[in-house]
Amino acid sequence: MKTRFVVFEGVEGSGKSTQVQMLAATLAARGEDVVTTFEPGATKSGAVIRELLLDMPLSLTPMTEMFLFCADRTQHVHEVVRPALDAGKTVLSDRYELSTVVYQGYASAVGVDLAERLNDLATGGLHPDLTVVLDLDPAVGLNRNGAHERRDQIERRTLEFHQRVRRGFLWWAERHPETCLVLDALQPPEVLHEQVLQRLGLGGAEEAGEGGL
Ligand code: TYD
Repeated sequence: MKTRFVVFEGVEGSGKSTQVQMLAATLAARGEDVVTTFEPGATKSGAVIRELLLDMPLSLTPMTEMFLFCADRTQHVHEVVRPALDAGKTVLSDRYELSTVVYQGYASAVGVDLAERLNDLATGGLHPDLTVVLDLDPAVGLNRNGAHERRDQIERRTLEFHQRVRRGFLWWAERHPETCLVLDALQPPEVLHEQVLQRLGLGGAEEAGEGGL
């Protein structure tokens, strides 16, 4: 069976974790060994880094933020992603390197090139086979996520910042159609799931033929 690394990305509240769970369930039912994971914070050290980034009012510079997200990613790749892929498992991640390109590189103006370079160092060049971008108006997503007081340090940023994040995802996806799939996240979860399966070559029609990513 083909090893896959699929990542879900998008603005806050776009339904990434639901899609990760749905895809994991479908693939597992087909007999695949699936690992689900997320960023930031999927490892023990990553959980500490996540706290620094999201739960503490530290006023980190965008560059510091980028280093920390990438430190979390290095550990994540080392402890979770690489071992699972090497063992022939399918890995599904809620966020990965594109979040750094978009949140830090594009929306925080650190620069996309620098974000890509740091990502390459952090991941050792381990890129996903497919990144699904769940596109949504961030005003809708932030509302879905609940009250302002409960928001983390990044969710608290201005709507204008989150609009830039959305544009960043779309900008990137347009330039990488072979590895990115953009879906309208206003659609029901089941419809989105079906669209993901189609792209992976696992939808009804494709399954009979070649299919794939
Ligand atoms: P999380 O609570 O996981 O949010 P979500 O449910 O939206 O995924 O918080 C992750 C936050 O960190 C989110 O606001 C996006 C941000 N982030 C970055 O800015 N850069 C990154 O590289 C990553 C992985 C996340």
